Amino acid sequence: MSRPSARFELGARRELITVDECRITPYRDGPLLVRGPFKLTDQDGNEIDARRETIALCRCGHSKIRPFCDGSHTTTKFRAAGGSEGRRRT
Ligand code: FES
Repeated sequence: MSRPSARFELGARRELITVDECRITPYRDGPLLVRGPFKLTDQDGNEIDARRETIALCRCGHSKIRPFCDGSHTTTKFRAAGGSEGRRRT
């Protein structure tokens, strides 16, 4: 059985690649970009139709279309690192 895959542009070179796993990237002062095969659900397991293979998820809390980013982070001056800000305690 083949795994699901997705094609998308990556990086400044606009290279088309095919991936078979989901990739989530926190963008500096912005959303979480989700690329690749994924399923987005609410907390009850109901699927949320993302309608695309790459989505931006709001992490600033100000979007009017949550869980998706609507660009409001730019007007609220949201600040966050473009990577990990440390580890969670277990
Ligand atoms: S991260 Fe873009 S609106 Fe929240």
